[in-house]
Amino acid sequence: MKETALNKILILDYGSQFTQLIARRIRELGFYSFVLPGTASIQRIEDFGAKAVILSGGPASVYEQGSPKPAPELWTYLQTKKLPTLGICYGMQLMVDHFGGRIEAAHKREYGRMGVTIQSPSELFSGITKFQAWMSHGDETSGLPNGFELAAKSVEGAVAAINHQNGRMFGIQFHPEVTHTEEGTTILRNFLTKAAGLTPDWEMRSLIDTLIENIKAQVPADAEVICALSGGVDSTVAATLVHKALGKRLHCIFVDTGLLRFEEGNRVMRMFTEKLHLPVTRIDAEERFLSKLSGVADPEKKRKLIGAEFIAVFDDAAAGLERALGKKPSFLVQGTLYPDVIESSPAPKSGGTSTAGNHSHTIKSHHNVGGLPEDLQFKLIEPFRDLFKDEVRAMGRELGVPEEFLERHPFPGPGLAVRILGEVTREAADTLRHADEIYVEMLKAEGLYSKIWQAMAILLPIKTVGVQGDGRTHKQVVALRAVTSSDGMTADFYPFDLGFLGRVSNRICNEVKGVNRVTYDITSKPPATIEWE
Ligand code: XMP
Repeated sequence: MKETALNKILILDYGSQFTQLIARRIRELGFYSFVLPGTASIQRIEDFGAKAVILSGGPASVYEQGSPKPAPELWTYLQTKKLPTLGICYGMQLMVDHFGGRIEAAHKREYGRMGVTIQSPSELFSGITKFQAWMSHGDETSGLPNGFELAAKSVEGAVAAINHQNGRMFGIQFHPEVTHTEEGTTILRNFLTKAAGLTPDWEMRSLIDTLIENIKAQVPADAEVICALSGGVDSTVAATLVHKALGKRLHCIFVDTGLLRFEEGNRVMRMFTEKLHLPVTRIDAEERFLSKLSGVADPEKKRKLIGAEFIAVFDDAAAGLERALGKKPSFLVQGTLYPDVIESSPAPKSGGTSTAGNHSHTIKSHHNVGGLPEDLQFKLIEPFRDLFKDEVRAMGRELGVPEEFLERHPFPGPGLAVRILGEVTREAADTLRHADEIYVEMLKAEGLYSKIWQAMAILLPIKTVGVQGDGRTHKQVVALRAVTSSDGMTADFYPFDLGFLGRVSNRICNEVKGVNRVTYDITSKPPATIEWE
């Protein structure tokens, strides 16, 4: 990592699902932040040169054998360097445990929104008296450590926050990083600007510079790089960034899988060549993908097959490039985002720079993460592994990617294959493409597209009876989905006006061959996912 004079904030990760969210909130507040494993050596921590330190939450109990603990010298280091420190949830419990307080299993687990009232003045809660906070913990502080005072408690009477008398160490039992905690951003800002006395000095331009430097450092001067452009925001911004770092050594490929939206291939190629001036080769691989998917209905099998076929197509393209260049590209760029990494856990194989391991279950194998075969022929460049979608959009804006392109809804790597439930055929893909195009066109025409995070049509593997013209029909059902979300990790269905849904349904049933019924999905995530497979 480049040594800079920036006000850098170190986050020590003890396995919380929210650790990257803390990092993101800190970035939004204008500070550079970086996540290291909670067990990182004191040398690594010193080398980083933080101006303030945050200890994340985590699923373990501090009194459990084998629970993750910081380097033994950490606390002395923090005190002698006078580094402002904030412990969140498990991070606060580590603090309590180390300084001689008592942590034990709570009689009643605190989970969800909970009222918190301030008990003694502190810079952390400057301007706040009471608020609703998001709690998620089974252990609680039953004895305060020496030198600390109670700063806030929950309506249930549990310790919600503590301050050290030295004014530099703070512990909070709730999660300020999630949007459910009112005043969460104020509390984090207070910690950085009031308690630590730091001034924001970091912005998107610096992140771009850091990522470009990281890419240059990762890729040897004689290596060639291949990038799979999907037509989505993530891979496009990733390619633009890598192109800035490596120039002509980047070779982009656009694979037409036959599972893309209507006219997508042509639209995307025009954008790459005419607007972004990225060097791109288009590969028509429809036949390859459809024959691999023939007879396969299981969603996970489809995802894995598509992931493997992508890599096989890249391998062939790389062999072609090898012949043309006299050497084989050894790196592959992917626009993998943090939510892709965490939802495909524990699959990551590229050794992301700062994700300290996590404890979440595999929800789906994303083709750009979990579906990669073991014998991967490329080393991965994944500049956005720690970022969220809207951060990548903001970066694209800074890099000059056209606005109309950045505002496109996300589209999954496996494409229409995960929206055609059951077996994927060319006919099914054509049917879905047509229905989807009508839906998207109408969303745009009625000014709804930009209000929605993601909208899609899904082709269901069932037929229902209908009546069209004079006769009985027996045709397929199309489901429509539209959600609002800020990062794809949670989502709400979009509350369309019923008149709009009726107009879309009419057009689809009248214009799309093979469909006689349309339904609307009114499920949030969780419990459902955004895609249907
Ligand atoms: P789910 O369906 O898991 O989707 O709620 C969350 C977001 O991720 C997108 N998605 C993918 N993106 N490769 C991708 O690049 C994939 O395999 C993949 N699967 C889902 C999905 O469209 C939504 O935006």
